Amino acid sequence: MNKATRKAVIAGNWKMNMTPSEAVAAVKKTAELTEGKNGCDVILCVPFVDIAPAVEAAKGTHVKIGAQNVHFEAKGAYTGEISAAMLLECGAEYVIIGHSERRQYFGETDETVNKRLKAALAAGLKVILCVGEVLEERQSGITEEIVSMQTKLDLAGVGAEDMKNIIIAYEPVWAIGTGLTATPEQADEACGIIRGVLEGLYGKDTAESVTIQYGGSMNDGNAAELLSKYHVDGGLIGGASLVPEKFDKIVSAAQ
Ligand code: 13P
Repeated sequence: MNKATRKAVIAGNWKMNMTPSEAVAAVKKTAELTEGKNGCDVILCVPFVDIAPAVEAAKGTHVKIGAQNVHFEAKGAYTGEISAAMLLECGAEYVIIGHSERRQYFGETDETVNKRLKAALAAGLKVILCVGEVLEERQSGITEEIVSMQTKLDLAGVGAEDMKNIIIAYEPVWAIGTGLTATPEQADEACGIIRGVLEGLYGKDTAESVTIQYGGSMNDGNAAELLSKYHVDGGLIGGASLVPEKFDKIVSAAQ
C-alpha cells in the first residue's frame, strides 16, 4: 500500500460550535456540496448533543458522523461523561481522541487517551487519534521525540489488526486556530515520523496502510499543497469545517 491506495479522509472537527438545529442545516449543506466527491471519506465530528440529529440529517448521503471524545468506562458514576455505547446508539461511527484541546484544557494524558482509545475500539467505534507538539517543543528541536512518544504511549497494547480502525491526525498545537499552518514539508516530515513509529510497532505493510491526517489551520487555500505530500492522507479541519462552502473546497482538493 502507498499514498495512491491509502484512504484519503477529510474530517471536520466542529469543536464547541453549532446547536442541534444549526448542525442539521450544516450537515445537509455539506452533504449537498460534497456529493459525488468520492475520492475521500468525509466525516463531521460534532458536539455530543448534535450527534443524533446530525446522523439523521446525513442519512442517505456519504457524510459520516463522529464525536469529539468518549469516556473509557462502560457506565457508572462519571458525571458529565459519555460512553462508547451511547455514541454508537446515537449513530456515531467515529470519535476523535486525544485532541490537544482535551490535553491542554481538560487534563488528558497519554494514559487516559490510551484507555479511551481501547474502549472506543472495543465497542466498535473508529478512532481519529490526535498527536502533536507545542511551539516550545518544536523550537527546542524535540518534535520527533514528542510525536513518537505520544504515538507509542497512545497506542500501547493496541494490535496491528486494530490499526484498520484508527486514523492518526498530526496536529501541531501551534498551528491550531492560529492561522499559522505547518509548511507542507513540516507536515510531511511529521506524518512520516508517525508512519515510521507505526512501522516499528506493526511492520511496513500496516504502517503504509494507515491514514495519517494533518490538522492545524488547514483551509481551502493551503489544502491542495498539504494533501499532495506523500505522508499526508487527509485533513482534520477546525474553523474551516464550520463553513460548508470552505469545507467543500478542501474535500475537492482531496479528490
Ligand atoms: P483549525 O483548523 O481551526 O486550526 O483547528 C484544527 C483542529 O484542531 C482540528 O482538530
